[in-house]
Order: sequence, then C-alpha cells, then structure tokens
Amino acid sequence: MNDLQGKHFVLGLTGGIAAYKAAELCRALIKEGATVQVVMTEGAEQFITPVTMQALSGRSVYTSQWDAREPNNMPHINLSREADAIVIAPASADFMAKLLHGRADDLLSLMCLARPRADSVQGGAKEVPLLIAPAMNREMWSHPATQRNMAQLAADGAHMLGVGSGFQACGETGDGRMLEPAQLLEDIIAFFQPKALSGQRVLITAGPTFEAIDPVRGITNLSSGKMGFAIARAAHEAGAQVTLVAGPVGLATPRGVTRVDVRSARDMLAACEAHTATADVFIACAAVADWRPAAAAEQKIKKDGSGATPTMAFIENPDILASVAKTERARSGQLFCVGFAAESENLVEHAKAKRLRKGVPLLVGNLGPATFGQDDNALLLVDAHGVQQMERAPKLQLARALVQDIARRLQATPATATAATTAATTAATART
Ligand code: CTP
Repeated sequence: MNDLQGKHFVLGLTGGIAAYKAAELCRALIKEGATVQVVMTEGAEQFITPVTMQALSGRSVYTSQWDAREPNNMPHINLSREADAIVIAPASADFMAKLLHGRADDLLSLMCLARPRADSVQGGAKEVPLLIAPAMNREMWSHPATQRNMAQLAADGAHMLGVGSGFQACGETGDGRMLEPAQLLEDIIAFFQPKALSGQRVLITAGPTFEAIDPVRGITNLSSGKMGFAIARAAHEAGAQVTLVAGPVGLATPRGVTRVDVRSARDMLAACEAHTATADVFIACAAVADWRPAAAAEQKIKKDGSGATPTMAFIENPDILASVAKTERARSGQLFCVGFAAESENLVEHAKAKRLRKGVPLLVGNLGPATFGQDDNALLLVDAHGVQQMERAPKLQLARALVQDIARRLQATPATATAATTAATTAATART
C-alpha cells in the first residue's frame, strides 16, 4: 500500500542537528510512492550535505535563490507550484521566526512566502500546504517567543506537526526534539486523508480480552488487534478524537490516538462506560472472551502428579456492545454504535442475526480464521437495508473505507433518524 503514490513534496531542511533525520524522512516519503525535491538553507548544509540528500531523493538539491538552473530563474515559484505540499523538517526556531515575519532572504523562506495559500489561490491553481516539523533545544521550544511564533504560523495557515520529547543532542531532556521520521510520515499521510469525521469523538475497542484462571494462566481469544488499531488510525486521520480501549496486544498506538489498556472483559466494559457519555461513535471491534472462570485462583494451580485435571466453572462476561447499545445516548441516536462479528462459517446469516441481537444499526462481519493476525481482511457490512461486501484488502485500506462509510451514515442520519433506526432494530429484536 503506497499511501503517498503520485504526491510530490518540497522537503525543506533548515539548520539543526535533526537534519540527519530528514535523510530518513526523504527515503520514507519515496518508499511510500512520493517524489521529493530537497531545498536546503545555508544552515542545513552545516549539518548534512546536499550530496546525501541528492542521492536519496534522486534529484539535485536547491540551496540558493540565485540558482540559474531554472530557465526563468525563479526556483522559488517553479519548485513550489509542482508540489502537493512543502514540508519543513527540521524547522529551526530561527527559521520559524523568519517565516512569521514574511522574510524571504533565502530560497526556502522565499518559497514559503510565495506558496499558493488556501485563501489566495486563483482559478484552477491548487493550494500548496505548508507542514512544519520544529526541532530545537527544550529551552528554545518553551520560550514564549517560539510558542507565540508557532501559534501565529498556525493562524497564518501553516500545519504544525508537533515535537517529540526526550533526550536531546545538547544533553538536556525535554520537549522540542523533531518527531521521528516514521511519526512524521504517519502525520503527513494523515494530513492528506479526507476529514469526514472532523469534530466527532470515536470510541473503539480492539484486541482480545484475557480472563485469569490463576496468576499465570488465563483464557483468551484469537485476535491480533490489527483491525481495531487500523480503524483507530483511520478515524484519527479522518479528523476524529479517538479513544482506543485495547486488550493485551503488542501493537504501537496510532499517532494522535488516546489509548486505554485493559485486560479483562469487565475492565473493558468499565473503560467504555467511562467514555460513552462523551462519544459520538462506538465501534466494538474487540474479540471479547464470552466467559471467565467463576473464581480466579489466588495462587498458581499446581499439578499433584496424579494426572487429574482441574474442573472449572465459568460465568458469562458482560456483553459490552449490547449494553452500550441499550444506553439512552445510543437509543436516542446521539451515539452511533457499530458492532463486529467474527465468524467461522455462514457469515451473512450470523452477521444479520447478530446485528439484531446486539441492537445496532451497523454490523461488520468477517471470517475470523481467514484474518486472525494477518494484515488484510474482507468485510461484510450489514444494516437494516441489506449487506454490502468490502473485498479483501489491507486492513488500513478497509478501515479508511469503513470510516468514510460511517461518516456518510452520520451525515445521512441525523440523531432523530438514527433513533428511529435503533427503535426499529429493537422492535425487530423483540420479535426474533
Ligand atoms: N462483544 C462485546 N462484548 C462481549 C462479546 C462481544 O462487546 N462480551 C462485541 C464484539 O466486540 C463484537 C460483537 O460484540 O462487536 C460480536 O462479537 P462476537 O465475538 O462475534 O460475537 P458474540 O457476541 O460473542 O456471539 P457468539 O460468540 O455467539 O458468536
């Protein structure tokens, strides 16, 4: 999956030790299908050579506004007009201060000043967004001047990419490090996704739950969490505020997503209940264990050497989705609930029945054994009108399509209509 296929970037480097990370960012952009034109300030050249950036980008680097290679002698116009975005990484405190004042005494700042903005583009021309990845010492970062400048740059239409925190090249520890190339790449990819869920708050469950038998053993379900994590990423990319309630999985948290780690079904229910009052969409993707041992042993259960096996009583776990779908918020249509169904056979039949049983307007079916642990999946969307197939594809691609589909449903179904759908579903459930 090449998320930046066909996109062209001007990658601007300014003077900062994080310039070495720009080399990896350049590679990452190209690996994702983009083309990259590097522009460097004089300061950047003190940290990394144009030769390195030329070799990585496959294009000769521009460093001067007096570069005569362009026939009209206007690299600041020509290079930016071809671009889908200008990304400044690293952006030094000095360079940001310069941008803020509209100064333009080197090629990169000149190009930023001359970029077509959303509020200035004329007939047929396209906007060239400006994405800024700051990098500096923690004192420079927290200085009121820097914070003021950043706020003003954002108000002037730049997209600020934020910074990391931790050990800095100067030996101090704090905020101000440039984000890692992989993080920048994720943010840049997100920048280009349609913002269909802008302003919405989305709550997602993902992964399995783990129900303790004793302090070292438990029962769980097969689930890597990949589908739920992909949905969380896609919802964030679409502009939503995302809370991801995750069972025990070893996956990295998608950028910008708030993660709540839980272990058992009851923990997961409690975490969901703490967030449903403020959520607009609830997507239950977790493979919740249906039963838990009636009583977890306090100490490890030992073998006694006789070959006898322990007997165990089970209790049914709470149904998180069904209980959220019954809340007033869901029933009144303020909280749009989406369930999943992991089946091993008869997907259409089971998914239709499960949608009614859970009382949700939309249920997404998938065949568990065909997708557990894998990076791709095939989905079946079931609603009151019928079924719709999403063909096998990478989970992130399906997650983006699902998020767009949910956004369309939210737009097409104002709260009162959702309430009617939910009521109809409840009535249908009562009949079955
Ligand atoms: N679910 C839940 N809480 C449970 C069980 C399931 O919230 N205790 C949610 C899942 O996250 C999913 C949907 O309900 O969105 C269906 O889960 P699934 O495991 O497919 O079905 P079950 O409800 O467990 O039913 P069955 O085991 O009979 O297929």
